[in-house]
Amino acid sequence: MELEERYGSGVYPKVPLRLVKGEGAKVWDENGREYIDCVGGHGVCIVGHSNPYIIEAIEAQAKKIMVCSETFYHEERALLYKELLEVMPHYMGSVFLCNSGAEAVEAAIKFARILTGRKKIVALKRGFHGRTFGALSATWNPKYREPFEPLVPGFVHVDPENKEELESVIDEDTAAFIFEPVQGEGGVYPLSGEYLKFAQEVCKSKGALFISDEIQTGFCRTGRFFAFQRYELSPDIVCLAKGMAGGLPIGAVVLRDSLGKIPSRTHGSTFGGNPLSCAAARAAVRFMRENALDKRAEELGKLFLEGLKSINSSLVRDVRGLGLMIGVELKKRSAPYLKALADEGVLALQAGPTVMRFLPPLVINEDEIKFVVDKVGRVLSGNGSN
Ligand SMILES: Cc1ncc(COP(=O)(O)O)c(C=O)c1O
Repeated sequence: MELEERYGSGVYPKVPLRLVKGEGAKVWDENGREYIDCVGGHGVCIVGHSNPYIIEAIEAQAKKIMVCSETFYHEERALLYKELLEVMPHYMGSVFLCNSGAEAVEAAIKFARILTGRKKIVALKRGFHGRTFGALSATWNPKYREPFEPLVPGFVHVDPENKEELESVIDEDTAAFIFEPVQGEGGVYPLSGEYLKFAQEVCKSKGALFISDEIQTGFCRTGRFFAFQRYELSPDIVCLAKGMAGGLPIGAVVLRDSLGKIPSRTHGSTFGGNPLSCAAARAAVRFMRENALDKRAEELGKLFLEGLKSINSSLVRDVRGLGLMIGVELKKRSAPYLKALADEGVLALQAGPTVMRFLPPLVINEDEIKFVVDKVGRVLSGNGSN
């Protein structure tokens, strides 16, 4: 801890816990204390900690070849393209691989501009798309944006409830409209299906691309393989990352077949499509399919949401979410309650100043969810160690 404090860049506020082990939905600290992990590396840990499918895939691939840039062909990458497209709608046709969510958003924005020859990108208020310059320009919160201005020109933010505004902003120079089906960082707000369907129609009529940022909602988190399926949407481009490779860094952009190929040499990534991440991603997707993690997130999400809604506390303003992506909005700042919850053996995240966010591994079981709900109840009714 001392070394991290002394030599770290300083950008991360820390929870004073040193984690040493993880398995399934649990992690342990250096003193052997057990926690239910609803942080899951910020939503990365979809298939659970130390998932045996992932361990086996990484081990086997590491022994064969770890370095193979996109200049050469590689079987794991080829099969990942194919298997990823198998869980996507049939009209999707190509994949670009990178290493993180922000990189996926950067690539999607560049692809939208080069494919349409247009400049404007329309994003939503409360939206979060990452912290690199392009992704940050699509992100809304002034707290993240203002210290780094000037940002990339051409970005406009609209209200996620206001159809008239959207219709007036998306025009013949709009390359794309980008949205998170459930706004995660912004406070766990599932968007209205009616609004998103309307946005899709406006994009279609104006020739703008419709981009679903599924970096937090993707890979079964919301009770469908991807959240756009839940909303019955047909995005032109989908951004992916977080849990896609079971914990290894990866990001991806999936594109509609009819958009054609991206012009050669207009984008790239040294580590993108590396064999180790590709092998891990294939194993993760296989685990999700074999264990129907989408249905599991749907069923357990209901149990979790109902449990949290039944907590009788005057501190709670709202409980909302989809699948196993859940937020409890408080009338006060959530930080002290998250600390008290950690003391009770449950790790959870903030989303905005007043929301407690739960992004557990989708392998979490009923007993673990009941434990979490019980502890949240204790903390919010003042019976915890707070
Ligand atoms: C919806 C969304 N988009 C993009 C990102 C950025 O991903 P990364 O932190 O991997 O760059 C995040 C991260 O939380 C996210 O939730």
